[in-house]
Amino acid sequence: MKTIIRKIRRDTGAYTEQEKEALRLAGNIIREGGLVAFPTETVYGLGGDALNPASSRKIYAAKGRPSDNPLIVHIADREALGRIVRDIPESAVKLADAFWPGPLTMILEKSDPVPRETTGGLDTVAVRMPSDPVARELIRLSGGYIAAPSANLSGKPSPTVAKYVVQDMDGRIDMILDGGDVEIGLESTIVDLTSPVPTVLRPGYVTVQMLRETVGEVQEDCTMMRDDSGQAPKAPGMKYRHYAPRGELTVVDGAREDVVNYINTQIGLLRAQNKKSGVIGTDADIERYRADVCRSVGDRGSEDTVARRLYRVLREFDDEDVEVIYAEAFDTDGIGQAVMNRLLKAAGYRVVRV
Ligand code: TXA
Ligand code: MG
Repeated sequence: MKTIIRKIRRDTGAYTEQEKEALRLAGNIIREGGLVAFPTETVYGLGGDALNPASSRKIYAAKGRPSDNPLIVHIADREALGRIVRDIPESAVKLADAFWPGPLTMILEKSDPVPRETTGGLDTVAVRMPSDPVARELIRLSGGYIAAPSANLSGKPSPTVAKYVVQDMDGRIDMILDGGDVEIGLESTIVDLTSPVPTVLRPGYVTVQMLRETVGEVQEDCTMMRDDSGQAPKAPGMKYRHYAPRGELTVVDGAREDVVNYINTQIGLLRAQNKKSGVIGTDADIERYRADVCRSVGDRGSEDTVARRLYRVLREFDDEDVEVIYAEAFDTDGIGQAVMNRLLKAAGYRVVRV
């Protein structure tokens, strides 16, 4: 399959004629059952018509994703919600008022028009209203309901720049809209509103604290930050190896000096074995590491920057064929919780405390 690739600016409502034409083409492709990758404020999505079972099957095939892992349905306005869910609880109204459009996904009881192919066989559906202008325009032009997982091959870090969408999806889908770098860089927060108490299944830019301020009591799924709970995660996708670079990744937690010393000692051992090493650090200490490839995810104090850079850095280690990677750990307050959740999964929960 030849994949059409078109550039589009995400920061303006005033599209050029070429951009408008690209958006119309993308909308028609989705209406006719094809697949288009597009930017959102969180990560790039791989979109198909959410109400067409054949489109959802194509999404699973293009990603190489297990079909029991449900897709998120993206909508552009609140009216669209009524058609795809059985009931809109009070908590959903409050959360939508506070965080939509934006990086929050809600799990609700699905209604009949949503095929089980889209929900991975479940009776519930994940719904999100993105804020990105390109995503919103595309949803409108495609008929109102786009099913979109992140636009990476299954298991790889989600793409935050179009280059990595092209790397994974060129030749597998009909079109890619290249909107440059995304803003947030980690996938949306997922909150399940079908359980008695709203439960966070995946942490993200909208923090647990922010959710509690809006709806009161909120639980966290116990599988979110560890793998030894003995329970299956409630978001089926969270059970798979995820976000992972090809190199073996270990997170090193401890006092600053101890972390730098430990990592440099390990790098010395790797060098003796002729293994290519990498470090994920922060601005304050990155110069001190002696690995073959050292990458800073930014200033520790600016968690937004760390979130925005993490996936790109994980991908860059693959570009450079790094075999063993060490990462500094992060605080789990605020969006730091989402950063650590992704880093721990990428590391397969391999953590060294020094
Ligand atoms: O920011 C995002 O959410 C991005 C952009 C493209 O919008 N999308 C995204 O989709 O991250 P994906 O497919 O990579 O992750 C969706 C997650 C999976 O872990 C899946 O298991 C969970 O949402 N999920 C979807 N529907 C669910 C449901 N009905 N119940 C529980 N978990 C669900
Ligand atoms: Mg994903």
